[in-house]
Amino acid sequence: MQGRKIFLMFLACMALTACGGDRKEEEKTSIRIGISLYRGEDTFINNIRGELEEKAKEYERRNGIKVILDIQDAKGSQNTQNDQVERFISLGCDVVCINPVDRMDASLMIDRAMTAGVPVVFFNRQPVEEDMNRWDQLYYIGVDAKETAMLQGKIVVDLYGRDPGALDLNGDGVVSYVLLEGESSHQDSLIRTEWSIQTLKDGGVPIEKITGGIANWERSQASALMEQWLLAYPDTIELVVSNNDDMALGAIDALEREGIDDINVIGIDGTIPGMEALENGRLLGTVSANKEVYAGAIMELAASRALDEPLPDEYPLEDGTYYWVLQQILNGEAKKD
Ligand code: GAL
Repeated sequence: MQGRKIFLMFLACMALTACGGDRKEEEKTSIRIGISLYRGEDTFINNIRGELEEKAKEYERRNGIKVILDIQDAKGSQNTQNDQVERFISLGCDVVCINPVDRMDASLMIDRAMTAGVPVVFFNRQPVEEDMNRWDQLYYIGVDAKETAMLQGKIVVDLYGRDPGALDLNGDGVVSYVLLEGESSHQDSLIRTEWSIQTLKDGGVPIEKITGGIANWERSQASALMEQWLLAYPDTIELVVSNNDDMALGAIDALEREGIDDINVIGIDGTIPGMEALENGRLLGTVSANKEVYAGAIMELAASRALDEPLPDEYPLEDGTYYWVLQQILNGEAKKD
């Protein structure tokens, strides 16, 4: 009996030592981050991906901790993304970063992460509040869509104040515009459309909508729509308001095919091709979130969760959950200022 007691005490000691040992091992020298993108071909998302890879290297250099990034493209399929998240978790990722395909359908991924105790950093496509409230290890990084839209509207308000004739090309006292919208289910499309136009109205620009359509953020879809509109409303369109740069560039493609060079086009994102268009005078203006800060916030938040360390002060979280990336107007040249 005594022997058995000593043996049990020995086992208990072994267990305690093992736990102590584990605690030591928890001082990680590497972290594994799984990242799933809704569609890798999306220009803005692709730009963020590039910055993320840079930020991971920078983090490694600064902190001496190896960062293993596993970046996957869900190619627009929520099922594929669910599988990717499942795989990240089974591979032992410390944290997963998700750019959800369907922001209304994040619950399966959340279930899986919660069960495994793996924190999730969502970005760019904001899950519904009900989902976000399910666990305190769910985060979101993005931009304030209303702010984006108001800044976009300001580009036009400022130009109209300076030179109404640069927008009201036929001098009839009204600026006739067409509107290119992103995916209908995306929080950014709805809010950007509403507040961009509201800002024009509030800023005293006399506007009239000719038509509008959904081009799902894509350059080729926007180009096709613009081509139709130019045919349907010849010599009428004076301004193109686009929910993002890629669709703005699609509209510009169509304008250039028709040899039209006096219609102003505004975008959002400040993507690499968007900035080129600004510089060569094809785009009137865009609104850009600082992509370094955007990717930096994703990287720092993911690493802090993986290492269970506090997030640096430069990334204050609203309600302990949301981080909003600041944005700025980038002006190009008006067509006829
Ligand atoms: C928006 C961005 C679009 C597109 C979309 C994808 O915020 O402006 O260009 O990237 O996100 O979710």
